[in-house]
Amino acid sequence: MPVLTIQPSGKTLQAAAGSSILTALLAGGEAIAHKCDGKAECGSCHIFVQEGRKSLSKIQRVENEKLDAVVGVGSKSRLACQAMLGNEDVTVEVLSFV
Ligand code: FES
Repeated sequence: MPVLTIQPSGKTLQAAAGSSILTALLAGGEAIAHKCDGKAECGSCHIFVQEGRKSLSKIQRVENEKLDAVVGVGSKSRLACQAMLGNEDVTVEVLSFV
């Protein structure tokens, strides 16, 4: 079971491999915007993946296209609703608050 570390709070969550980062964050009671409920349409769940990036699912076209339209995107950007956890621990920086 991968451990998800959330910055800037430093809180950690046990997450299920195969679930999205968004699902894991919400299950852990973390506040993160998700206006389209995980359909890769709103871009509000934009996060930076600080560690463990390689264990996540690859970026698909729908995510890439949405990220192109989000302000402040960098090389560590993912949409939390589209990034599926693998077996390794991941550290993310949550950028939006609800
Ligand atoms: S929740 Fe809308 S893009 Fe992720």
